[in-house]
Amino acid sequence: MSAVFNSTGHHLELPEIVSSEGVYVFDGGGNRYMDLGSGVWCTSLGHHNRRINDAIVTQMDVLTHAGFCYSNPIVEEAATAVLSICGLGDGAVVFLCSGSEGIDYARQASRKITGRTLSLTFHDAYLGSFSSVIDRSSGWSSFDWERCGRCPGGTRLAECDHLDEIPDGVSEFLFEPGSSAGQVRFAPVQLVRRVVDRVRANGGKIIANEVTTGIGRTGSWFGFDHYGITPDLIVIGKGIGNGYPVSAVVMNRQTADELAGTDFKYMQSHQNDPLGAAVVKAVIATIEDESLIERSAANGAACLEALEHLVSHRAVVAVRGRGSMFAVDLADEATCKRVFRELLDHGFIVCPRGATLRIDPPLITSREELRSFAETLDGILAMA
Ligand SMILES: Cc1ncc(COP(=O)(O)O)c(C=O)c1O
Repeated sequence: MSAVFNSTGHHLELPEIVSSEGVYVFDGGGNRYMDLGSGVWCTSLGHHNRRINDAIVTQMDVLTHAGFCYSNPIVEEAATAVLSICGLGDGAVVFLCSGSEGIDYARQASRKITGRTLSLTFHDAYLGSFSSVIDRSSGWSSFDWERCGRCPGGTRLAECDHLDEIPDGVSEFLFEPGSSAGQVRFAPVQLVRRVVDRVRANGGKIIANEVTTGIGRTGSWFGFDHYGITPDLIVIGKGIGNGYPVSAVVMNRQTADELAGTDFKYMQSHQNDPLGAAVVKAVIATIEDESLIERSAANGAACLEALEHLVSHRAVVAVRGRGSMFAVDLADEATCKRVFRELLDHGFIVCPRGATLRIDPPLITSREELRSFAETLDGILAMA
């Protein structure tokens, strides 16, 4: 019996990982696995990244945790780096510990500013594991974007009645640009812009949930880049820490000033910890120095092309992707589980979600490594 309580709903598939390097983890039996899930979509720069590890050790020797009234310049430096990649140069950043916390913080901040209590999101948005977003029975308005996905090119949006369902008194629109509860689906650009315009016109805030889609995952720094919108708040998690639990809520200047003018208080012990900030700064610098967004976008495009050939297999229903996030829909959940297990036996870790295989490789994954994965999956599907 394990002393560790597992509340994830997932079985522990590899209980004895003993080491890791780059795209790979190794078990006690000497087996090597290519981690194409990046853990839980977190290790954007791969495991055991020397530069990130060095940044952690260096910062630990200076200051790990300080408290609300003391700090270290690394926090300011990391905030400046985050604002730069967000294109919000004069904004402000708070560093927290997880994506769920970031979403909850952004929502609290927005509500404090607007004085409203109604949040808008898309029907399939995953917003984390806090009870504030899991129970949407009150305080939430949910918009089903898939109806609009069936309207070709969004051409009928101008006269779309469904947009009138959006209430006027919305505090914020929490927009997850391209994951849809892990299914790698993308709401139409024109629809999103219309929703954003409508919420803004009524005095609401726009919060981009970039926990999964941010930090290069979609072939750009952020998923909202594909929508031509500028959010008021941006929540970043997962890849910004490369596996270290740090997240960030970014606010444009107006939002930061508005929040500063309220009595908003948030006293979580580890906000703006220097150690997390050191990780963030090192992750951003590494991505920039190694041109990882450009490289992973090019490798991802080649991988998507290879995966798209898989629709010729009977067991494959659809393939989707953008940048370095891919989904392969299989005939049913049982097939998905079987294919997942066979991939594991062949040394590849992916993420099964219902009948969908989700693939989110670290940005450092080479074209050759992605090709070997696509070929292995092809072979398995040929027998499925
Ligand atoms: C889109 C999205 N938002 C929020 C979260 C919550 O992040 P965390 O698990 O770091 O709390 C996740 C986690 O999977 C996510 O995929």
